[in-house]
Amino acid sequence: MLDMTRLPQHVAIIMDGNGRWAKKRGIPRLAGHNAGMEAMKEIVRRSSDLGIKYLTVYAFSTENWKRSWEEVSGIFKLLIKFVDLDLDELNEKNVKVRVMGDYQAIPEAARKSMDETLETTKDNTGLQFCIALNYGSRAEITRAVNVLAEKVRAGEIEGEITEEMIARYLYTGEENGNVPDPDVIIRTSGEERLSNFMLWQSAYSEFVFTDVLWPDFTPEVYEKTLEEFQARDRRFGGRK
Ligand code: FPP
Repeated sequence: MLDMTRLPQHVAIIMDGNGRWAKKRGIPRLAGHNAGMEAMKEIVRRSSDLGIKYLTVYAFSTENWKRSWEEVSGIFKLLIKFVDLDLDELNEKNVKVRVMGDYQAIPEAARKSMDETLETTKDNTGLQFCIALNYGSRAEITRAVNVLAEKVRAGEIEGEITEEMIARYLYTGEENGNVPDPDVIIRTSGEERLSNFMLWQSAYSEFVFTDVLWPDFTPEVYEKTLEEFQARDRRFGGRK
């Protein structure tokens, strides 16, 4: 049973396996992403209902541009469909949508829809749903270091660069209201790696890997995954 008194504050998910799910059924990859989007919506709903404060999903990485244009544009069309169709429900559930990544570079129609969603949900105080779009963690850290280098050059920073300063200029920093580090990072589809996702923020995260392909990741499987997280003993490098 899920212990409601010990829920993670921040859950981050690498949603993997849409392509394999589609292949198994002999249907196009995009049909897999469509099913993946439906799964994502269910997980947003369940996270909100459970009272989880932060949910971050890896929706599109800086490496995903290497896929066919048909697939890439299809994923962005799904994103538009999600933010347009589900805006009312997001608002009803008091969900605040956030984005992390170089999202100025995504197709304009998707960016416009996202902008609208960010604006419409900006005062919501429930679940903070953060979508990593055109996100890569090395690029994120490099960007923060460049901001700091510029500040040093301008004489705004004297003395040492601290961890807090670096964290402030990551996507999870100041610009997104200082998101706490994820307590747990879930990756579906049996792959056991981070793939350039939240490298800095995952220093003390628990990792839970499951063989379930993302479109099959139901709210019930989600709760089992959270139970697995709760069974872990987190010491943050210290002793109990
Ligand atoms: C990984 O599966 C999934 C992606 C790269 C895209 C994720 C997209 C969604 C879940 C739906 C759209 C939602 C938004 C918010 C854009 P894969 O294609 O790498 O699967 P494979 O490893 O089996 O090929």
